[in-house]
Amino acid sequence: MLKREETTSAFYPEEQIYKHEFNKPDKVRTDSLSISFGSKKILSDVSLNFKENNVTAIMGPSGCGKTVLLRLLNRMHDINKSAKVSGKVFFDSVNLYSDSFDPYHHRQKIGMVFQKPNPFPTMSIFDNVVAGLKLNGLKDKHSLNKIAERSLKMAYLWDEIKDRLNMPATDLSGGQQQRLCIARALAVKPDVLLMDEPTSALDPVSTVMVEDAIRELKKDMTVIMVTHNLEQAKRVADHVVFMYLGKVIESGDVRQMFDSPKEELTRKYLSGIFG
Ligand SMILES: Nc1ncnc2c1ncn2[C@@H]1O[C@H](COP(=O)(O)OP(=O)(O)O)[C@@H](O)[C@H]1O
Ligand SMILES: [Mg+2]
Repeated sequence: MLKREETTSAFYPEEQIYKHEFNKPDKVRTDSLSISFGSKKILSDVSLNFKENNVTAIMGPSGCGKTVLLRLLNRMHDINKSAKVSGKVFFDSVNLYSDSFDPYHHRQKIGMVFQKPNPFPTMSIFDNVVAGLKLNGLKDKHSLNKIAERSLKMAYLWDEIKDRLNMPATDLSGGQQQRLCIARALAVKPDVLLMDEPTSALDPVSTVMVEDAIRELKKDMTVIMVTHNLEQAKRVADHVVFMYLGKVIESGDVRQMFDSPKEELTRKYLSGIFG
């Protein structure tokens, strides 16, 4: 059910219509998720749910475990021999950390965008976007062209580069490279998009474009992003998770979290008193 309501919150201008989708099912859920590297415990008992077609912002001071958590949602610590994981991550109703789980199949459904743009350096713009599709065996040129165009449009990059798709990806500006990485993630049609501080290295114009893209993308997928930008969270997130020293202190609706947090620590962080 799509419900529109006006907000009188101090954080939102009165004329702004705040759109929020209630009653969406959980797309991803963690249950007592913990991780240690060697003897060092990094995350303790993280139990969270991420609603379908919503944007959740994971926030907290540097080093509190945001990136580690995001990577756990995609089993990206698997290759780290010193990482010890306990607890569960459900994607729909499947536990990613069960023995029978196939991470290869799962990764197709989850896209990831990192803090620093990381286009494949030897490839053109076009080849970057369609790399995943080609890996999956798609060869038909017409289909590849169509998906590349759609993905680049969704990432707000198409208009700037449509005439030079064969240019090396590394010739793009940093902001364009990050939007290219978003397009690359979108091309394989993920259900969930994980983004780790996707605009922290970007200029203001690219930042606005990426935020516009995120607001559109949630119509098609579930977005889980890390950001330490309070204003960005207010602009794009439906839900906020506040973490501190490897624990979830509080999570909830973005307005509730900014206007009336339950915990003093959350209030201090979200009002910018410490970062
Ligand atoms: N591969 C790793 N091995 C050991 N320690 C790690 C590893 N990755 C992250 N850490 C530690 O985990 C903690 C949380 O890191 P991180 O999730 O990157 O923080 P942030 O909230 O800034 O994203 C930090 O103390 C970091 O040093
Ligand atoms: Mg980080």
